[in-house]
Amino acid sequence: MSDVKLEAINLSKRYDEDTLALDNVSFQVRTGELFCMLGGNGAGKTTTINIFLNFIEPTSGEAQICGISTHTDPLSAKAHVAYVAENVMLYANFTAVQNLEFFVRLGGRTDVTRGECREALLRVGLHEAFHNKRLKDFSKGMRQKCGIAIAILKNASTIILDEPTSGLDPQAGHEFSQLVRSLRDEGKAILMSTHDIFRAREIADTIAIMNHGKLVMMQPAAELASANLEQLYLEHILGSQQPTLEGAA
Ligand SMILES: Nc1ncnc2c1ncn2[C@@H]1O[C@H](COP(=O)(O)OP(=O)(O)OP(=O)(O)O)[C@@H](O)[C@H]1O
Ligand SMILES: [Mg+2]
Repeated sequence: MSDVKLEAINLSKRYDEDTLALDNVSFQVRTGELFCMLGGNGAGKTTTINIFLNFIEPTSGEAQICGISTHTDPLSAKAHVAYVAENVMLYANFTAVQNLEFFVRLGGRTDVTRGECREALLRVGLHEAFHNKRLKDFSKGMRQKCGIAIAILKNASTIILDEPTSGLDPQAGHEFSQLVRSLRDEGKAILMSTHDIFRAREIADTIAIMNHGKLVMMQPAAELASANLEQLYLEHILGSQQPTLEGAA
Protein backbone atom coordinates (compact mmCIF):
# COMPACT_ATOMS: atom_id res chain seq x y z
CA MET A 1 0.00 0.00 0.00
CA SER A 2 1.34 3.39 -0.96
CA ASP A 3 1.77 5.95 1.79
CA VAL A 4 1.44 8.87 -0.64
CA LYS A 5 -1.34 11.08 0.74
CA LEU A 6 -1.14 14.23 -1.38
CA GLU A 7 -0.10 14.11 -4.99
CA ALA A 8 0.10 16.69 -7.75
CA ILE A 9 0.31 15.01 -11.14
CA ASN A 10 1.39 17.24 -14.04
CA LEU A 11 -0.75 20.02 -12.64
CA SER A 12 -1.26 23.07 -14.86
CA LYS A 13 -3.53 26.07 -14.47
CA ARG A 14 -4.09 28.77 -17.04
CA TYR A 15 -6.23 31.68 -15.88
CA ASP A 16 -6.13 33.46 -19.22
CA GLU A 17 -3.94 33.66 -22.30
CA ASP A 18 -1.21 35.56 -20.49
CA THR A 19 -1.33 33.79 -17.14
CA LEU A 20 -0.01 30.26 -16.90
CA ALA A 21 -0.16 30.16 -13.09
CA LEU A 22 0.94 26.52 -12.86
CA ASP A 23 3.09 24.75 -15.38
CA ASN A 24 3.21 20.96 -15.16
CA VAL A 25 3.82 20.67 -11.43
CA SER A 26 4.27 17.21 -9.88
CA PHE A 27 5.10 16.25 -6.31
CA GLN A 28 4.07 13.84 -3.58
CA VAL A 29 3.60 14.23 0.16
CA ARG A 30 3.66 11.07 2.25
CA THR A 31 2.44 10.01 5.66
CA GLY A 32 4.52 11.76 8.33
CA GLU A 33 6.03 14.25 5.86
CA LEU A 34 6.02 18.04 6.15
CA PHE A 35 6.37 19.52 2.66
CA CYS A 36 7.09 23.26 2.52
CA MET A 37 6.48 25.25 -0.67
CA LEU A 38 8.52 28.42 -1.06
CA GLY A 39 8.32 30.98 -3.85
CA GLY A 40 7.84 34.67 -4.50
CA ASN A 41 4.54 36.49 -4.88
CA GLY A 42 2.61 35.03 -7.79
CA ALA A 43 4.74 31.88 -7.99
CA GLY A 44 1.68 29.60 -7.91
CA LYS A 45 1.59 28.35 -4.30
CA THR A 46 -2.00 29.36 -3.52
CA THR A 47 -3.13 28.17 -6.95
CA THR A 48 -1.69 24.72 -6.16
CA ILE A 49 -3.39 24.67 -2.75
CA ASN A 50 -6.70 25.90 -4.18
CA ILE A 51 -6.72 23.02 -6.66
CA PHE A 52 -6.16 20.53 -3.82
CA LEU A 53 -9.14 22.07 -2.03
CA ASN A 54 -11.20 22.12 -5.26
CA PHE A 55 -11.72 25.87 -4.93
CA ILE A 56 -10.54 26.01 -8.55
CA GLU A 57 -10.23 23.44 -11.33
CA PRO A 58 -6.95 22.48 -12.96
CA THR A 59 -6.58 23.21 -16.68
CA SER A 60 -4.81 19.88 -17.00
CA GLY A 61 -3.33 17.28 -14.71
CA GLU A 62 -4.72 16.21 -11.39
CA ALA A 63 -4.45 16.74 -7.65
CA GLN A 64 -5.16 13.70 -5.48
CA ILE A 65 -5.82 13.34 -1.76
CA CYS A 66 -5.45 9.76 -0.54
CA GLY A 67 -5.60 8.67 -4.17
CA ILE A 68 -8.89 10.49 -4.80
CA SER A 69 -9.05 13.16 -7.50
CA THR A 70 -10.01 16.49 -5.93
CA HIS A 71 -11.55 17.59 -9.20
CA THR A 72 -13.71 14.58 -10.08
CA ASP A 73 -14.64 13.46 -6.55
CA PRO A 74 -14.28 16.57 -4.37
CA LEU A 75 -16.53 15.49 -1.49
CA SER A 76 -14.68 12.21 -0.89
CA ALA A 77 -11.30 13.92 -1.29
CA LYS A 78 -12.17 16.73 1.13
CA ALA A 79 -13.09 14.25 3.85
CA HIS A 80 -9.37 13.48 4.12
CA VAL A 81 -8.03 17.02 4.38
CA ALA A 82 -8.05 19.80 6.96
CA TYR A 83 -7.24 23.33 5.77
CA VAL A 84 -5.78 26.30 7.61
CA ALA A 85 -5.86 29.61 5.70
CA GLU A 86 -3.57 32.60 6.06
CA ASN A 87 -6.40 34.45 7.78
CA VAL A 88 -8.56 31.96 9.58
CA MET A 89 -12.18 33.08 9.14
CA LEU A 90 -14.18 32.57 12.31
CA TYR A 91 -17.19 34.20 13.93
CA ALA A 92 -16.15 37.26 15.91
CA ASN A 93 -19.16 37.07 18.19
CA PHE A 94 -18.71 33.39 19.03
CA THR A 95 -16.32 32.29 21.77
CA ALA A 96 -13.32 30.11 20.94
CA VAL A 97 -15.16 26.97 22.07
CA GLN A 98 -18.32 27.92 20.17
CA ASN A 99 -16.31 28.51 16.99
CA LEU A 100 -14.64 25.13 17.32
CA GLU A 101 -17.92 23.31 17.94
CA PHE A 102 -19.56 25.06 14.99
CA PHE A 103 -16.80 24.59 12.42
CA VAL A 104 -15.86 21.05 13.41
CA ARG A 105 -19.53 20.03 13.08
CA LEU A 106 -19.73 21.83 9.76
CA GLY A 107 -16.69 19.82 8.68
CA GLY A 108 -18.65 16.63 9.28
CA ARG A 109 -17.78 15.59 12.84
CA THR A 110 -21.18 16.00 14.44
CA ASP A 111 -20.10 13.97 17.49
CA VAL A 112 -17.51 16.50 18.70
CA THR A 113 -17.82 17.31 22.41
CA ARG A 114 -17.14 20.51 24.33
CA GLY A 115 -14.45 18.62 26.27
CA GLU A 116 -12.62 17.73 23.04
CA CYS A 117 -12.76 21.38 21.97
CA ARG A 118 -11.21 22.50 25.26
CA GLU A 119 -8.54 19.83 25.00
CA ALA A 120 -7.65 20.90 21.45
CA LEU A 121 -7.46 24.56 22.50
CA LEU A 122 -5.10 23.66 25.33
CA ARG A 123 -2.96 21.61 22.95
CA VAL A 124 -2.53 24.53 20.57
CA GLY A 125 -1.56 26.74 23.50
CA LEU A 126 -4.67 28.87 23.95
CA HIS A 127 -4.89 29.57 27.67
CA GLU A 128 -8.05 28.42 29.43
CA ALA A 129 -8.90 32.01 30.32
CA PHE A 130 -9.66 32.64 26.62
CA HIS A 131 -11.74 29.55 25.84
CA ASN A 132 -15.00 31.34 26.59
CA LYS A 133 -13.98 34.76 25.29
CA ARG A 134 -15.37 36.12 22.04
CA LEU A 135 -13.03 36.00 19.06
CA LYS A 136 -13.40 39.69 18.28
CA ASP A 137 -10.70 40.58 20.79
CA PHE A 138 -8.26 37.82 19.75
CA SER A 139 -4.88 38.56 18.18
CA LYS A 140 -4.00 37.01 14.81
CA GLY A 141 -1.86 34.41 16.56
CA MET A 142 -4.78 33.39 18.78
CA ARG A 143 -7.09 33.08 15.77
CA GLN A 144 -4.52 30.93 13.96
CA LYS A 145 -4.39 28.70 17.04
CA CYS A 146 -8.17 28.26 16.84
CA GLY A 147 -7.81 27.46 13.13
CA ILE A 148 -5.32 24.69 13.76
CA ALA A 149 -7.42 23.37 16.67
CA ILE A 150 -10.30 22.97 14.20
CA ALA A 151 -7.94 21.18 11.80
CA ILE A 152 -6.78 18.86 14.60
CA LEU A 153 -10.35 18.00 15.59
CA LYS A 154 -11.27 17.14 12.02
CA ASN A 155 -8.79 14.30 12.47
CA ALA A 156 -7.98 14.10 8.75
CA SER A 157 -4.85 12.33 7.58
CA THR A 158 -3.67 15.38 5.63
CA ILE A 159 -3.39 19.07 6.48
CA ILE A 160 -2.91 21.94 4.03
CA LEU A 161 -1.80 25.36 5.24
CA ASP A 162 -1.39 28.49 3.10
CA GLU A 163 1.08 30.89 4.73
CA PRO A 164 -0.23 30.16 8.22
CA THR A 165 2.53 32.09 10.01
CA SER A 166 2.54 35.26 7.91
CA GLY A 167 1.93 38.25 10.13
CA LEU A 168 2.63 36.37 13.36
CA ASP A 169 5.32 37.68 15.71
CA PRO A 170 8.45 35.50 15.97
CA GLN A 171 7.35 33.74 19.15
CA ALA A 172 3.85 33.01 17.85
CA GLY A 173 5.35 31.87 14.54
CA HIS A 174 7.73 29.55 16.37
CA GLU A 175 4.97 28.05 18.54
CA PHE A 176 2.77 27.54 15.51
CA SER A 177 5.58 25.86 13.57
CA GLN A 178 6.35 23.49 16.45
CA LEU A 179 2.69 22.55 16.54
CA VAL A 180 2.70 21.77 12.83
CA ARG A 181 5.82 19.71 13.40
CA SER A 182 4.14 17.73 16.19
CA LEU A 183 1.23 16.92 13.87
CA ARG A 184 3.74 15.65 11.34
CA ASP A 185 5.25 13.48 14.09
CA GLU A 186 1.80 11.97 14.63
CA GLY A 187 1.83 10.86 11.00
CA LYS A 188 -0.10 13.58 9.21
CA ALA A 189 0.93 14.41 5.64
CA ILE A 190 1.31 18.20 5.60
CA LEU A 191 1.55 20.64 2.68
CA MET A 192 2.38 24.19 3.72
CA SER A 193 3.28 27.32 1.79
CA THR A 194 5.46 29.95 3.40
CA HIS A 195 7.71 32.90 2.63
CA ASP A 196 9.90 32.11 5.60
CA ILE A 197 12.82 30.12 4.23
CA PHE A 198 14.53 29.88 7.63
CA ARG A 199 11.47 28.42 9.32
CA ALA A 200 10.99 26.06 6.37
CA ARG A 201 14.49 24.71 6.82
CA GLU A 202 13.90 24.35 10.56
CA ILE A 203 10.72 22.30 10.32
CA ALA A 204 10.30 20.82 6.82
CA ASP A 205 11.17 17.34 5.65
CA THR A 206 11.05 18.43 2.01
CA ILE A 207 11.53 21.89 0.60
CA ALA A 208 10.19 22.88 -2.80
CA ILE A 209 10.75 26.19 -4.56
CA MET A 210 8.25 27.49 -7.11
CA ASN A 211 8.95 30.18 -9.66
CA HIS A 212 6.53 31.45 -12.31
CA GLY A 213 4.34 28.38 -11.94
CA LYS A 214 7.16 25.86 -12.18
CA LEU A 215 8.59 23.67 -9.48
CA VAL A 216 12.25 24.62 -9.83
CA MET A 217 13.70 22.79 -6.83
CA MET A 218 12.57 19.96 -4.57
CA GLN A 219 14.95 18.49 -1.99
CA PRO A 220 14.95 16.79 1.39
CA ALA A 221 15.54 19.53 3.99
CA ALA A 222 18.24 17.38 5.63
CA GLU A 223 20.33 17.67 2.46
CA LEU A 224 20.02 21.45 2.65
CA ALA A 225 21.07 21.72 6.27
CA SER A 226 24.54 23.00 5.53
CA ALA A 227 23.69 24.73 2.27
CA ASN A 228 22.97 28.40 2.19
CA LEU A 229 19.25 28.11 1.56
CA GLU A 230 18.79 31.83 1.08
CA GLN A 231 21.44 31.85 -1.65
CA LEU A 232 19.94 28.76 -3.24
CA TYR A 233 16.50 30.37 -3.15
CA LEU A 234 17.75 33.53 -4.84
CA GLU A 235 19.59 31.51 -7.46
CA HIS A 236 16.42 29.63 -8.31
CA ILE A 237 14.25 32.72 -8.31
CA LEU A 238 16.64 35.05 -10.09
CA GLY A 239 18.68 32.57 -12.09
CA SER A 240 22.12 34.03 -12.62
CA GLN A 241 20.68 37.56 -12.79
CA GLN A 242 21.62 38.47 -9.23
CA PRO A 243 22.33 42.12 -8.72
CA THR A 244 25.94 42.98 -8.01
CA LEU A 245 27.73 46.25 -7.41
CA GLU A 246 30.08 45.63 -10.31
CA GLY A 247 30.33 48.64 -12.54
CA ALA A 248 28.05 50.61 -10.25
CA ALA A 249 30.57 53.38 -9.78
N1 LIG B 1 -8.39 34.36 -9.99
C1 LIG B 1 -7.33 34.66 -10.74
N2 LIG B 1 -7.47 35.14 -11.99
C2 LIG B 1 -6.41 35.42 -12.77
N3 LIG B 1 -5.12 35.25 -12.37
C3 LIG B 1 -4.91 34.76 -11.14
C4 LIG B 1 -6.00 34.45 -10.25
N4 LIG B 1 -5.48 33.99 -9.08
C5 LIG B 1 -4.14 34.02 -9.23
N5 LIG B 1 -3.80 34.49 -10.46
C6 LIG B 1 -2.43 34.62 -10.98
O1 LIG B 1 -1.81 33.36 -10.90
C7 LIG B 1 -0.44 33.49 -10.55
C8 LIG B 1 -0.14 32.67 -9.31
O2 LIG B 1 -0.79 33.26 -8.20
P1 LIG B 1 -0.81 32.58 -6.75
O3 LIG B 1 -1.82 33.31 -5.95
O4 LIG B 1 -0.98 31.11 -6.90
O5 LIG B 1 0.67 32.88 -6.22
P2 LIG B 1 1.31 32.66 -4.78
O6 LIG B 1 2.56 31.87 -4.99
O7 LIG B 1 0.31 32.13 -3.84
O8 LIG B 1 1.72 34.15 -4.36
P3 LIG B 1 1.76 34.89 -2.92
O9 LIG B 1 3.08 34.52 -2.34
O10 LIG B 1 1.66 36.34 -3.26
O11 LIG B 1 0.60 34.41 -2.12
C9 LIG B 1 -0.18 34.98 -10.41
O12 LIG B 1 0.33 35.46 -11.63
C10 LIG B 1 -1.56 35.54 -10.15
O13 LIG B 1 -1.66 36.87 -10.58
MG1 LIG C 1 -0.51 32.80 -2.04
